[in-house]
Amino acid sequence: MSGELLRVVMVAASTCAFAGMAVSAERLDIGKREYEANCVVCHGVKGKGDGPFNEFLKVRTPDLSVLTKNNGGLFPVNRVLEVIDGRTQVKGHGTREMPIWGDVYDAQAVPQFDDYGYNAKLFVWARTLALVDYLSRLQVR
Ligand code: HEC
Repeated sequence: MSGELLRVVMVAASTCAFAGMAVSAERLDIGKREYEANCVVCHGVKGKGDGPFNEFLKVRTPDLSVLTKNNGGLFPVNRVLEVIDGRTQVKGHGTREMPIWGDVYDAQAVPQFDDYGYNAKLFVWARTLALVDYLSRLQVR
């Protein structure tokens, strides 16, 4: 987990403790689940860009495990966030090759996903941040 994300989680945890709420262990790796459900077909299990869907793509799927390495040792949190939610369009040949997940999650943010609570904005944020955290854990040194 990047330092920044870790700090956010710690602040959230201490806020809960302050409010007198029990902080129980989370066993579900939401980021891993989201990655395996939505990204692995193209980006591959370890993010190397070798997923089975690649034979149908015109653009080579980038290696997501070297984002930190290629950014001077710092995981590019903002860029990754914006690529996932669609604010940053990644350059492809012609049309956008990668779906905009912010829109997909927005569309899915309905009450039946009750493990995220009923707040649609939080539902989208939780999944997006969990993905960013998961990608930060895929980075090679
Ligand atoms: C349909 C195949 C496909 C799927 C599914 C997909 N991606 Fe991508 N992704 C790509 C391609 C292709 C590019 C490069 C696009 C380009 O250069 O135009 C890319 C680029 C990216 C980048 C930018 C990398 C960089 O160099 O800065 C990130 C981050 C990323 N994807 C994350 C994800 C995440 C997270 C998911 C799952 C929510 C996902 N992708 C799902 C094909 C895919």
